[in-house]
Amino acid sequence: MDVLGIDIGGSGIKGAPVDLETGELTRERLRVPTPRPAVPGAVAAEVGRIVEHFAWTGPVGVAVPGVVHGGVMRDAVNLHESWAGADAAELFGGAAVVNDADAAGLAEMTYGKGRGERGTVLMLTFGTGIGSALFVDGVLVPNTELGHLELHGHDAEHRASDRAREEHDLGWREWAGRVQDYLEHVVMLLSPSLIIIGGGVSKKADKFLPYVQVGVPVIPAALRNEAGIVGAAATAGNRRSTALP
Ligand code: BGC
Repeated sequence: MDVLGIDIGGSGIKGAPVDLETGELTRERLRVPTPRPAVPGAVAAEVGRIVEHFAWTGPVGVAVPGVVHGGVMRDAVNLHESWAGADAAELFGGAAVVNDADAAGLAEMTYGKGRGERGTVLMLTFGTGIGSALFVDGVLVPNTELGHLELHGHDAEHRASDRAREEHDLGWREWAGRVQDYLEHVVMLLSPSLIIIGGGVSKKADKFLPYVQVGVPVIPAALRNEAGIVGAAATAGNRRSTALP
């Protein structure tokens, strides 16, 4: 079955139809810039534009950079404060809505490096923020938000996200030191058996992962930047194949 997956990020909104058998995009993805300010109505209009572009009438899944319960947002700090309490599922025309890191993790666990991995697997995405997806024997514990752990008195994502690397003009090695500190903290809390690194930086893993040693395997994701789209689509696909409302 093909499902349209849409991934809302801090700088771009990307969408494409996904074949849920293979996890592959079946058409070239469309990327539009995230509107500024990224208020619910403006973002929903861009989501609508992507749906129209693909002339899509089937199921749609949307990944959002914030905490979401039953389609309703608690927040989306890197979009706009007015997302707090917004009914994203309704704004997106009844789409299935999932946290972006949870979506990326679901995709990686289904089609990528996490396939068949039991134990405590942690996917971390480094982009505008730091996203986290925690799996215990393949089952997702949603909305973990580990990017907001406190690190040296700061919100961790303000020190160790990819945006922090760019904004603070850090070399890869210097940034790797911050990632190392962050991962040590996460390992101390959760003792994962495997850490998978996703987000845009995963394709440059050779520039920083050699400097990261935390006593647990840390590997780059296989699905790269499309993981959010694929996981959003998979969430919508799953919803339709269960007896849950
Ligand atoms: C948000 C998370 C999101 C992550 C990556 C964080 O700032 O709180 O919900 O998964 O950024 O986009």
